[in-house]
Amino acid sequence: MRMVWLMSIGLFASLVAAPIIPPPFTLGGFALAAIFMKVHRPGTGALGLTDVREIHRTLPRPRPHDPRRHFNLKKGVFVGIDASGRAVYLPWLRLRKSHVDLVGITGMGKSVAASILVAQCAMAGEAVCVFDPKDDQFMATALFNIAKDKGLPFRLLDLRPGAPAQLGLFEGAEANEIEELLVAGFDLTEKGDMADVYRLDDRRAAALTARYMAENRVLNARQAFAALAPERKKHKDARKFWADLEELTGLACIDTRTGYDLRRLLEDGGILYVLGSTRYARTVKLQKMLCLRLMQIVERRPRTPAPRHCAVFLDEIKYLLSAEVVRAFGTVRDKSCHIIAAHQSLGDLRDCGNLDPVAVEGAIGNAGIKCVYRVNSPETAQWGARLSGQVIIGRESFEPARSWLGRPRRTWSEAQRPYIDENMFLALPPMVGVWLGEGIAKTVSLAPLPAKGERPHPIPAEDAALGPEAFPDSI
Ligand SMILES: Nc1ncnc2c1ncn2[C@@H]1O[C@H](COP(=O)(O)OP(=O)(O)OP(=O)(O)O)[C@@H](O)[C@H]1O
Ligand SMILES: [Mg+2]
Repeated sequence: MRMVWLMSIGLFASLVAAPIIPPPFTLGGFALAAIFMKVHRPGTGALGLTDVREIHRTLPRPRPHDPRRHFNLKKGVFVGIDASGRAVYLPWLRLRKSHVDLVGITGMGKSVAASILVAQCAMAGEAVCVFDPKDDQFMATALFNIAKDKGLPFRLLDLRPGAPAQLGLFEGAEANEIEELLVAGFDLTEKGDMADVYRLDDRRAAALTARYMAENRVLNARQAFAALAPERKKHKDARKFWADLEELTGLACIDTRTGYDLRRLLEDGGILYVLGSTRYARTVKLQKMLCLRLMQIVERRPRTPAPRHCAVFLDEIKYLLSAEVVRAFGTVRDKSCHIIAAHQSLGDLRDCGNLDPVAVEGAIGNAGIKCVYRVNSPETAQWGARLSGQVIIGRESFEPARSWLGRPRRTWSEAQRPYIDENMFLALPPMVGVWLGEGIAKTVSLAPLPAKGERPHPIPAEDAALGPEAFPDSI
């Protein structure tokens, strides 16, 4: 600060002296002083404490670019352009060995970042599954365009009410897997509360339904519900389970015998785009089941020969997580599956329905790689700041002179502050995020993939046109 004052006085003096000192010297002095003052401007994040009123001057600005021009699979995964204009790459091994957590308020660029990551994963031969409960305006088209350009398989599943029959959800599932899917989708896991007593009846009904479906190769929820009418009378206490199963039968998208088999994605690679919902209760249940089904298939794959890598993007995780999927976060990483999760704040991790917040925070908050965009919760900003690490800053202070003859005492001390501090996380511009977890925190700017052209549609299953009459309720 003292230096700034000194240079200001110097600047003033050089202006006053302009008539007697040749102009080049005056102008040179002016320029030097200006440069020095700019460097020592209060709020310069890299050099001292930050000031929220000045922070916008020190933050990197978004850099419009075409991300496809920087894709270079040999160098790694392109994650954006840094403040000096260089492309930043993440090593493949690092990405494949860690889950990624994208945090930021709406419109900041989480889905843009995720689509750029998964596009490169698909190009590198991985099987990519994107769960989009919000029906993102651009993401499906942007990924469809990439798949078309690179000749990769692309499939869109629409799980919303009114969508045609497309998905064979229980295809290839064993009884215990079907049971786990029903328990997860209908939220019947033990929670340690009073209602656990009633959940016992519901879980018993889930087990017998699963057994029936596996033994009789009934892979259609509507048929199973109808065929189990006598069991429904016998196990009346499992009221929630039967109501939930009936609700599921109302979704035409799984009312098929020849629908899309999820195992194909892991065999063929390419992109599977799942369009879900944040509002329709039955679609939310179904998307949680589908997410778990994918984890089941991933976990069942043999370790040798090395299975195809799989990248899963869970946008707005709170509409996709079940206790079972949260547990799978810990196990699938070893089975060549890495997850990219997006949410708006740390608070979202505690607001996942009936899920244990500690387990959710443990699974997602501990992802090895994080990208934090602008946040508006001080808690999340502080969390990002702590993760960015500490830097040492110098602090100069003055003690006033003890007598009129004495001189003020100057002391110099060192202090620490977060490398990227709270003020910065609260003010980051859109499309600029801070990558944490691979070396020193990096602030990078990203631009979206082009999303012009036709929006992809779901492909109805072969038997979809036949309608429900094709599958008699009793078999
Ligand atoms: N392909 C695209 N073409 C043009 N603009 C895009 C494209 N994709 C995203 N955008 C814009 O980029 C900005 C960031 O979008 P993005 O969807 O990544 O935000 P987000 O952080 O995922 O927000 P939300 O939490 O609401 O999903 C938005 O203004 C969006 O409209
Ligand atoms: Mg988004």
